[in-house]
Amino acid sequence: MAVRKDTIWDRFLSPIIRSFIDEEELRQFHDSIDWETESDRFSNPQLNYPHYYASQNFHGIEGGYLNANAATTYDPITQYVLPPNETWVRQGLIDSIKGTPRRILDLGCGTGSTTLMLKQAFPQAEVIGVDLSPYMLFMGDYKAKKAGLDIQWLHGKAEETGFPDASFDLVTASLLFHETPPKVTQLILHECFRLLMPGGEVLILDGNQKTLRQVDWLTELFEEPYMKDFAAGSVDAWMGAAGFEAVQSEELWWVHQVTRGMKPLPADEPTTSTEEVSGSSIIEGFGLEGIPAPAF
Ligand SMILES: C[S@@+](CC[C@H](N)C(=O)[O-])C[C@H]1O[C@@H](n2cnc3c(N)ncnc32)[C@H](O)[C@@H]1O
Repeated sequence: MAVRKDTIWDRFLSPIIRSFIDEEELRQFHDSIDWETESDRFSNPQLNYPHYYASQNFHGIEGGYLNANAATTYDPITQYVLPPNETWVRQGLIDSIKGTPRRILDLGCGTGSTTLMLKQAFPQAEVIGVDLSPYMLFMGDYKAKKAGLDIQWLHGKAEETGFPDASFDLVTASLLFHETPPKVTQLILHECFRLLMPGGEVLILDGNQKTLRQVDWLTELFEEPYMKDFAAGSVDAWMGAAGFEAVQSEELWWVHQVTRGMKPLPADEPTTSTEEVSGSSIIEGFGLEGIPAPAF
């Protein structure tokens, strides 16, 4: 697939952002990694890449996320494209968490920027990041080790993780849904519902769909193949259709949104929340070690 070189990004924004980035340092880091060995460490040989993923040059990078360049340039660029401040935006998701989760799954975790913040916010929790790109997972692991954080990384599909039913009390996805076709997004939300225990929360951070509909050109700018379809839809409605209740979206600095939903408790169970559960694990004796390896 040919990579376009005539976009607003290529002509105007890329040169501006490049001027803020120490390209030499980035190149040195990139060259210091044996990418084949490192990506093999994270690769699940049984995994088949979905066509919607493997066929697209996300952000104009040939091969999309299945490319070491995507992994090394992601963080340096992302810090400039999440106004007003990347950390504040990600913190918006963390601040929307109502309970004290014990097992957290971060879908489409990428280089783990939100995953690391989840572990920092809930140090007692077992945290797993899932992504389709072994290169992005390597970066997540590299950052976690550097920060001294114990996080597990799994090469897998957000829509079919292979984890057992009701094995998490918080499932998150940041900046994933604008990168998946709406049909897949809806499958991912069904997977979130299946994975959560009753009373568990799902939290989705992404572009503000209402705003994106008003500024059509933004969807062109970043060379995102599915962003227009994402903007036309509604995460609230998709969450409701997946079975979540108390669904609510909150706008963050006009351009972002955090959507929260809760998996309902069975009608005959007394109302409780992860916040009210103290002491031992919510599912007694069901540590992460006990969760069977996902089957792809
Ligand atoms: C824009 S990045 C977001 C990364 C990270 N969550 C963040 O907030 O910076 C999207 C990530 O989703 C991953 N991805 C896309 N579709 C996926 C899917 N179906 N299952 C798992 N990961 C997926 C990509 O490989 C990429 O790392």
